[in-house]
Amino acid sequence: CGIVGYIGQNDTKEILLKGLEKLEYRGYDSAGIAIMNENGVHVFKEKGRIAVLRETVDFNVESSVGIGHTRWATHGVPSQVNAHPHQSESERFTLVHNGVIENYSKLKREYLKDMELKSETDTEVVVQIIEKFVNEGKEVEEAFRHTLGLLKGSYAIALLDKQNTEKIYVAKNKSPLLVGLGDNFNVVASDAMAMLQVTDQYVELMDKEIVLVTKDSVTIKTLSGDIVERGSYTAELDASDIEKGTYPHYMLKEIDEQPVVIRKIIQQYQDDQGELTISADIIDAVNEADRIYIIAAGTSYHAGLVGKQFIEKMAHIPVEVHVASEFSYNMPLLSEKPLFVFISQSGETADSRSVLVQVKEHGYKTLTITNVPGSTLSREADHTLLLFAGPEIAVASTKAYTAQMAVLSILAAVAGKARGVNLEFDLSQELGIIANGMEVLCDSKEEMEEIARNFLATTRNCFFIGRAVDYYVGLEGSLKLKEISYIQAEGFAGGELKHGTIALIEEGTPIIALATQEHVNLSIRGNVKEVVARGANPCIISMKGLEEEDDAFVLPVVNELLTPLVSVIPLQLISYYAALHRDCDVDKPRNLAKSVTVE
Ligand code: G6P
Repeated sequence: CGIVGYIGQNDTKEILLKGLEKLEYRGYDSAGIAIMNENGVHVFKEKGRIAVLRETVDFNVESSVGIGHTRWATHGVPSQVNAHPHQSESERFTLVHNGVIENYSKLKREYLKDMELKSETDTEVVVQIIEKFVNEGKEVEEAFRHTLGLLKGSYAIALLDKQNTEKIYVAKNKSPLLVGLGDNFNVVASDAMAMLQVTDQYVELMDKEIVLVTKDSVTIKTLSGDIVERGSYTAELDASDIEKGTYPHYMLKEIDEQPVVIRKIIQQYQDDQGELTISADIIDAVNEADRIYIIAAGTSYHAGLVGKQFIEKMAHIPVEVHVASEFSYNMPLLSEKPLFVFISQSGETADSRSVLVQVKEHGYKTLTITNVPGSTLSREADHTLLLFAGPEIAVASTKAYTAQMAVLSILAAVAGKARGVNLEFDLSQELGIIANGMEVLCDSKEEMEEIARNFLATTRNCFFIGRAVDYYVGLEGSLKLKEISYIQAEGFAGGELKHGTIALIEEGTPIIALATQEHVNLSIRGNVKEVVARGANPCIISMKGLEEEDDAFVLPVVNELLTPLVSVIPLQLISYYAALHRDCDVDKPRNLAKSVTVE
């Protein structure tokens, strides 16, 4: 979910709605705004996208203060009633919340025993308790702080009090939240991107802080009421980076940006002599570790699997890769000197952050690889490496994935060099070849569209197979396809399909096979024969030099270890066109959010 708030004089409704549109990547199953003036608070909320909400907002209502929310449902189905903002019983208080209040049932039992709540959300409990404390005689700020003190879980909250049109009450714990500063106005947002339209000056908030925001002041306090002084910073985001220009979809734009991103990464990680470099602190942390634990979710997890190959082969350090949500509750036996590497495009994924908090408590060293400077995972880890991929807006990750692999390869090579490992190739040169190869692939859209049409237009399911790194890329390809086209897609190690999944092969079942690795080329081609013998319709994507007559597409040659950076591009494009042919919402697939800030 994402939240925004505005207090000042301009057109509150439009600022809030525009802000929410920029936050839709955090969830888009329902949305709402509350605006306030001397006559009271007006709440507009709807199931569906911001565009739906926009149509219901009464633009005649004047207001210079308001809050807004876009939701990714956790407690309670997506519906108008469960959409935020939520109001207290007398409607004096109105609140938006991102996060999960873990103890909400207990709080309800203890504090709101006889009250019938309007919604099924954990959030409503918070606003009702605040009102209860105020009714019992507490000042609003005190009631707010007292209520926050009772909450277990994560929250970014903005609260309006009908009796005070001059103030927004704000609080944060675990969920990201920033206050933006303007001339005669101030704003609140889950992400600076939302309010770049009005300001680029932001103040970071820390966990368990509250903020009292008026149009000309921002007062940060701890939960116990002590005032905190903190300066602002300039958000270095270019507003034009987050427009899709002439592209029909962000996803296609972001796929096409990949060659430029790789070149940017080479440049950012090169020293004056053109040598790849990474700060000595980070290389020391890597080289002091006896084992690296990569923690990530979704596409970033898939980049981690490839990163393991890079680090083990180029730096000779053992690596384990874990899904963050599993690691959190099922920690393996750790080595003596672990280094934790968090891979996260957004730097906000709550599952990953939960692991970060736990391992920090043990005093372990941490490094975050992220696209978002100043994100939670970046701030809280000992070290950060940036992706320089520019804002990624489409929910299905593309350029961040290849950027993650590129940065991991540089980390592996630089650490390896410091350890005396002899790398037989010049990585920056190889990455340059990859950028060129990516360009060729981005120019092959017609072929990819045809593959999508021939193989995927009507199918119910699709399997991806590969061996070695091709297997990991297949996992990512299958995630892309299922995320945006809703075709049931799974990735398998070539040899594993026959141990069960082959039972699902029917006449015409599409199998996308990657064959980019010389040492397993014959075996993967054997696996393809096994499924073809049972009726499958194969689509083989091979590497130049390994191709055979009936291959559907041949990739330009790049360094064998680094092939995932190019072999994923056809899979991204095929998924994109499959989704288009099936009339799916490419950039905002159902049920998903780009950044999942709840565990
Ligand atoms: C969400 C997105 C995925 C993404 C994952 C991890 O589930 O839908 O596309 O890969 O989060 O996100 P992160 O920002 O941590 O890389």
